[in-house]
Amino acid sequence: MAVKKKTTKKKSTPVRKASGGPKKMHGEVFYPSKEVVAQANLKNWDALAKSAAKDLQGFWAKEAKELEWFKPWKKTLDDSKKPFFKWFADGKVNIVHNCIDRHLKTSRRNKLAFIWESEDGKEHRTYSYYALNREVSRMASIIKSLGVKKGDRVTIYMGRIPEIVFAMLACAKVGAIHSVVFGGFSVDALQGRIEDSASKLVIICDGSYQNGKLIELKRIADEAIVRCPSVENVLVVRRTSHDVPFQQGRDHWYHEMLETPIAKERFPTEVMDAEDPLFILYTSGSTGKPKAILHTHGGYMVGTYSTLKYVFDIKDEDRWWCAADPGWITGHSYIVYGPLLNGATSFLYEGGPTFPNPGRWWQLIERYGITILYTAPTAIRGLMRFGEEWPNQFDLSSLRLLGTVGEPINPEAWKWYFTVIGKEKCPIMDTWWQTETGMFMITPTPVVPLKPGSGTRPFFGQEAEIVDEQGKPVKDNEEGYLVLKKPWPAMLRTIYKDPDRYVSQYWSKYPGRYMTGDSARRDEDGYFWIIGRVDDVIKVSGHRLGTAEVESALITHPAVAESAAIGLPHEIKGQAIFCFVLLKPNINGTPELAEELRQHVAKTMGAIARPEEVRFVDKLPKTRSGKIMRRVLKARAQGLPEGDLSTLEE
Ligand code: WT7
Repeated sequence: MAVKKKTTKKKSTPVRKASGGPKKMHGEVFYPSKEVVAQANLKNWDALAKSAAKDLQGFWAKEAKELEWFKPWKKTLDDSKKPFFKWFADGKVNIVHNCIDRHLKTSRRNKLAFIWESEDGKEHRTYSYYALNREVSRMASIIKSLGVKKGDRVTIYMGRIPEIVFAMLACAKVGAIHSVVFGGFSVDALQGRIEDSASKLVIICDGSYQNGKLIELKRIADEAIVRCPSVENVLVVRRTSHDVPFQQGRDHWYHEMLETPIAKERFPTEVMDAEDPLFILYTSGSTGKPKAILHTHGGYMVGTYSTLKYVFDIKDEDRWWCAADPGWITGHSYIVYGPLLNGATSFLYEGGPTFPNPGRWWQLIERYGITILYTAPTAIRGLMRFGEEWPNQFDLSSLRLLGTVGEPINPEAWKWYFTVIGKEKCPIMDTWWQTETGMFMITPTPVVPLKPGSGTRPFFGQEAEIVDEQGKPVKDNEEGYLVLKKPWPAMLRTIYKDPDRYVSQYWSKYPGRYMTGDSARRDEDGYFWIIGRVDDVIKVSGHRLGTAEVESALITHPAVAESAAIGLPHEIKGQAIFCFVLLKPNINGTPELAEELRQHVAKTMGAIARPEEVRFVDKLPKTRSGKIMRRVLKARAQGLPEGDLSTLEE
């Protein structure tokens, strides 16, 4: 057994200097083994943390210099117009140059960039960096021929196939701004995002597979696109080959265009300003429509490169598997950009964890010799319930590191992951971050002592704080609002087309500090423990959804007068959606109608938003100013005390 475990009772476990952190730690602590420390690229967390704290800009400038720039930047950080921070301003770069072009000049050109397997296990594809350049160049030349110019928005709506990665990189290569919409979203969610971004081109596939079922992505996309006048062209990648309607002039088969002289195997990479937008990604906020979070070429590039390098200790011989979807920020940063910037080999899998059986993921780890697995607590809990017999059928000895993201991980799931999957030799990197932060913000590295359920400490150069309503720091172990005190290169630059909302959402409540929207506490060892969202954001299986979005889907049903959605604890999903519905007069709240409403939400937004339960009520608890008191609904639904009801209108 490589890792020594220490509880407060035992006093003798030695703390290696190299592991960093305070000497006597509280609670249950897992120290890194000698083997882990010996192989870690970064052995001394403390020293780097100290120097980065002293010289934030120096730290990031050094990281940025490990990458190639067409023209060097003048100022590492420009905070003269904060909170509109600029990083590496006046520098010329393109993230794709560093993800692909740079590697072609070295022996890495022959290294695998991606390994892909289909859901049914019948198809395998691999792409070296050299081949990746060819594929991305072909896609880039094709989208250029469809009229896409620097700064144009392109919506991407696809399953987990290599072409989704090519599409994102092709956009970045020609300087277009990609907006990926998760392939599990449905008509309304897609339409809203295409419309808001005014995309000219939409890249889709004909369909995708999910647990053996065909999802007709093109039909969903067609329904959304007819309502979006900005769309001039639709590029369709063939995946499922089922019959799809085709609109002449607007729709183009990708495989047919590849056969024409338009498709070029080498294509120039556009020179961009460091602060030029790279992508927008929609995410749920507390109110109203999803917000388009904007990230840039330069800072995002440096942030994702550096965090993946240090936190997951990326080495040339690794086989990295981030089991998220490219359609979320986790996929953007750690399937696509971060791994390619590090010249890593990534595994991309089309399916989910339990199809055709709960041994699928473990089989893939054995088959491809995965060395690092990065996933979400909900997946771990979901697989844990099928028991050890599934993972125990496979050889998981290639694993050396594990990771988790998306929501707090309960210690029970942490220990199962650590023991059953990692065989007590793989440290677990519990990475706290957000769509907005672009990169890991509170995270261990392999040499940091771990406490199950804590993301440990802020990344190099960052300082986090727990504050009360007035912004005053609270005492150790007290719960409060989590804020970030320092700017970081991969930070969102704004909300696309809505800079006022950017300022009010993130920088107004605690001036000078970034408001995360999470509550947390910090223990006496300086370790952070995330509790959860403090706004009306629900995390269903790690996916971020807004109560307002669910409510606006419900209201489009003819029987619904008013509704309130809340998140309640769920054993596997972390949180699940519960809806309280007030029906229009003379409509009966039957179980059939409840079921119909659940399906209605799933159809308009996507299956992930399907409510766990719809309950009919005569009245919704509201404040005198008419705001629904979700706190009261939550308490009622769980049979808990309803708390202070003085503002309740009655
Ligand atoms: C919210 C952001 C960025 C990756 C995926 C989520 C929660 C994220 C953790 C973690 C506890 C976490 C927070 C955060 N969250 N990681 N390791 N421990 N909570 O991105 O969809 O923008 O959601 O996810 O509540 O605010 P996102």
